[in-house]
Parts: sequence; structure tokens; C-alpha cells
Amino acid sequence: MHRYSQVTIAIHWLTAVLVIVAWFTAVSGPDARTDPSYVHFTVGLAVLLLVVPRLLARWAAAPRVEDPQRRWLDLAARAGHAVLYLLLVALPLTGWYAASRLGVPVSFLGISLPSLAAPVQGAPGEIADLHETGGTLILWLAGLHALIAIWHQFALKDRTLERMNPLAPSDLTQDG
Ligand code: HEM
Ligand code: HEM
Repeated sequence: MHRYSQVTIAIHWLTAVLVIVAWFTAVSGPDARTDPSYVHFTVGLAVLLLVVPRLLARWAAAPRVEDPQRRWLDLAARAGHAVLYLLLVALPLTGWYAASRLGVPVSFLGISLPSLAAPVQGAPGEIADLHETGGTLILWLAGLHALIAIWHQFALKDRTLERMNPLAPSDLTQDG
């Protein structure tokens, strides 16, 4: 049984809060052009900034000890986590692209970022649509992910929640 490092745990929970704030501050339609939410841009780009060290820490970590009794569950968890990571990278990038297409300047903590695409007059296009759909999908997936983690903890009693708990007893092996 392993647990995550305190840095990974901190990034996990901070990312969860940032994603929720990004969802609540998102605007669409004409408002996205005339009254864009800079809080949305900032928290969304912070998600992108945080996912990089998190993935590096994950790859540098010792391999996870798998439970041979529940190999399919382990594979399902890996697939689910991969989709979440994909969205954590793709959402900020597609959002940045959507803002560029809408002609809205993007900055992060006062630093102006370059446009990812030339501005257009009408709708910002399919990648912007994907951003909107993905932005809602990540919340549903994260909710499902949380329910599965709770099921692991209380039904399978395999201490899954403790892996992500910064205050859990430290008798677990640390590996990521
Ligand atoms: C937007 C919200 C969230 C996102 C994007 C997210 C994302 C992730 C990702 C990508 C992992 C895989 C970590 C790795 O192995 O590299 C993970 C693990 C985990 N998450 Fe979340 N999570 C969110 C919310 C939550 C919530 C609300 C809970 C609480 C029930 C939770 C509990 C856990 C646990 C216990 C693990 C460890 C699972 C394991 O080791 O098998 N997460 N999360
Ligand atoms: C985890 C990060 C993010 C999440 C969860 C997220 C979520 C969303 C959601 C749900 C919408 C649709 C709102 C609605 O239809 O009412 C949206 C729209 C939008 N977001 Fe994000 N977003 C994220 C990051 C970003 C970033 C980093 C940027 C820009 C730098 C951005 C720019 C935009 C723009 C311009 C729109 C309007 C698109 C349009 O009208 O077609 N987003 N976002």
C-alpha cells in the first residue's frame, strides 16, 4: 500500500478547488467576448501550471504496488486517472485557444500571454465548443471519481482515501 507525497497531495486538493472555481466563473456566449472572466483564465492557467510538476513527480516515483486480486479495478483506476489528467492539460489549452479566437487578451498574474489563434468575428469554433463540454465533463468525472474513492475506502476497506489525506497516519509507503 502506498501513499502520495505531501506535495502531490497539496497539488491534488488545490487543483480540485481551482477546477471548481473555474467552473463557477466560466462565461460563454457574447459575454465571453465583451465581459470575459479573468478569474476564470487565471485559475484555469494555474491548473495547467500545477499539472506539470505533478506529472513529473508521478513519473519519477517508484512503481505502484498492484493488488493482483483486483487487477481490473487497478486498470480502471489508471484509465480514469488518465482521462482526468488529459482534461487537466486540455482544458486550459483549449480555453486559451477559445479566448484567442474571441479576440480576448489572456494574461496570467499580470504576464501577457501570446494568442494561440487569430481572432474571428463569429463563433469561436469547435475547439471552443469542446472546451465548454470538457469543462462540464471534468466536474462529473471528478464527482464519480470521488464516489469511487469513498466506495474503496468504506466498502473495500483498502484505505484509498488515506493515500490522499495529508493528515493520515504515515504507516503507508510513499511513492508519488
Ligand atoms: C476536480 C476534482 C478532482 C480532480 C481533477 C482529481 C484528480 C485526480 C487524479 C488525476 C488522481 C490520480 C493521481 C495519480 O495517481 O497520479 C487522483 C487521485 C485521487 N483522488 Fe482525486 N481528483 C479530484 C477530486 C477528488 C475528490 C473530491 C476526492 C475525495 C473523495 C478525491 C480523492 C482521490 C483519491 C483518494 C485519490 C487516490 C486514488 C488512488 O491512489 O488510487 N479526488 N485524483
Ligand atoms: C480547468 C480549467 C478550466 C475549466 C474547468 C473551464 C471550464 C469552462 C466551462 C464549463 C465553460 C463554458 C461556460 C458556459 O457555457 O457557460 C468555459 C468557457 C470558456 N473558457 Fe474555460 N475552463 C478552464 C480553463 C480556461 C482557461 C485557462 C481559459 C483561457 C485562458 C478559458 C477560457 C474560456 C473561454 C474564452 C470560454 C468561453 C468559450 C466560448 O464562449 O465559446 N478557460 N470554460
